[in-house]
Amino acid sequence: GKVGVLYGGLSSERPVSLNSGKGVYEALLSKGVDAHLFDTGERSLAELAEQKFDRVFIALHGRFGEDGCMQGALELLGIPYTGSGVMASAIAMDKTMTKRILLDKGLPTPKYAVAHTEADLYEAEKKLGLPMIVKPPHEGSTLGLKKVKQVSDIPEAFALSQTYESELLAEQCIIGRELTVPILGKGDKAYALPIIEIIAPGGNYDFNNKYIANDTKYLCPAPLSAELTAQIQDYCVKAYLAVGCEGWSRVDVMLDEQNQPWILEINTSPGMTSHSLVPMAAKASGMEYADLCIFLLEQAST
Ligand code: DAL
Ligand code: MG
Repeated sequence: GKVGVLYGGLSSERPVSLNSGKGVYEALLSKGVDAHLFDTGERSLAELAEQKFDRVFIALHGRFGEDGCMQGALELLGIPYTGSGVMASAIAMDKTMTKRILLDKGLPTPKYAVAHTEADLYEAEKKLGLPMIVKPPHEGSTLGLKKVKQVSDIPEAFALSQTYESELLAEQCIIGRELTVPILGKGDKAYALPIIEIIAPGGNYDFNNKYIANDTKYLCPAPLSAELTAQIQDYCVKAYLAVGCEGWSRVDVMLDEQNQPWILEINTSPGMTSHSLVPMAAKASGMEYADLCIFLLEQAST
C-alpha cells in the first residue's frame, strides 16, 4: 500500500523531525515500500486525507505530532499509524503527568514541583535542593531546560522555560550516569533493546550535543552488570506499559551514584536522525535502521 511519512510539523523540534522523516523515508524506499514524505507543518489535514495513505509512519516530534493531536486526527481519518495511541501520546508529552503515573505505579522518578512563577521556583528549591532542573514539561530535545546550580540561577531558568510555556516542571537533579532504553512492541510482547549510556561533554546532553556536535560518546550496550541491566530494562518496560505506550518509545533514565535508576520521561516518537539512539540500540541487537522502520510500520494500527 501507499505509506505516508509524516514529518516536519509545527513544533520547536521541527528541524529534528525533518531529519528523522528523511531518514525513515529513505529507509522505507530502500525496502521497496511506496513511501511519500508529507510535511504536516506545510500541508493541511484535508490534503492528508486526499493522499489516501494506507498507513502512515509518524516521524513528528513535539506538539501536534507526538502529543496525541495527530494520532486523534488519524483515528478520525481511519488511517493506521505507527507508535502510541492518543492517550499514551498525550500523557508522555507531559513530563509532569508522566511522573504522576510512574509514582502511582511505584516506579522511581525524581522528586518534583510544579511552578508558575519565579517565587514557586524558590519554594521548589527548598523542597528539591540543588542542583535542580527546570524545564517546560511539553518540550523535547532539551529545549528550554536549565540546570539550576545555585539559587541565583533561578531567574534565568524561569525566563528561559517561560518562553516555551507557563507551567514549568522543577525536578531534583540526579547526579550520575545518563542512560536511555528503547522499548519495542505492545502489551505482554513489549521488550527493551540494549541500554545506551550517553557520555556528553561536561555532562551536558543538550540540543547541541544531541544533534550538532560530534563529541558525545555512546556506549551500547551500556557497561552495567547483567543484574542491573535487567532491573533497569524491567522498570522501563513497566513505565512504558503504565503510560499505555505501543509500538515503540525511548525511556530516559538517570542512574545515581548508588546505582539506583530514576526514570525521567518517555519519548513516544523518538528521534530517527543519523545521531539518534533507538536506531543505535536496534543495531546493537542486530536490527538495521531500515528493518526497524519496517517493524514499526508493520505494527501500525488505529
Ligand atoms: N525528542 C527527541 C526527538 C527524542 O526524544 O529523540
Ligand atoms: Mg524528550
